[in-house]
Amino acid sequence: LVEIYMRGYEGMREYGGEGEGYAKRYLRWCWNKAKDGFFVAKAGEEIVGFIVCDRDWYSRYEGRIVGAIHEFVVDKKFQGHGIGHMLMGKCLEYLGKYNDRIELWVGEKNYNAMRFYEEYLFRRANRSGIWVRMVRDLRKDDKGSQQL
Ligand code: ACO
Repeated sequence: LVEIYMRGYEGMREYGGEGEGYAKRYLRWCWNKAKDGFFVAKAGEEIVGFIVCDRDWYSRYEGRIVGAIHEFVVDKKFQGHGIGHMLMGKCLEYLGKYNDRIELWVGEKNYNAMRFYEEYLFRRANRSGIWVRMVRDLRKDDKGSQQL
């Protein structure tokens, strides 16, 4: 997963941490925080992407618990082939069971990812430094794609 993370963020190092040590610590933190919502995509036996969906995230911007997407990466050479859509579908299905709102933070110049999120009805809500907070409302039991 560390390798996928490093390759996925190639060319965007400012948003993908400071290196493998950081990636390893961060992904371990993700695993400990949101095991149930840590989904991987496979091509055959190979893991090619993952999404980390946390159903129990205290948002200080909302002042309450919301769903959060902590990380979402598809390996560089597999990007643009629909794997991200599959992972996002799974994420919305999962968080839709528990949360009525999802937040995530994305790099301010990560235009591809922001466009992707906007397709899924996320909207820009706040900024903090180089990060943009995006939110999406969900009905409980929303299956995500059904609402699109
Ligand atoms: N290459 C091609 N298309 C891209 C790319 C890319 N690098 N990034 C986004 N897109 C757009 C396409 O225009 C396409 O739009 P369409 O649905 O209208 O055709 C769509 O997004 C691509 O859909 P998928 O192929 O399903 O998405 P993909 O498998 O590439 O996954 C993701 C999307 C996760 C954003 C991936 O490109 C990636 O890993 N990017 C680098 C890491 C990153 O920026 N992650 C998000 C950070 S924010 C966070 O983690 C909370």
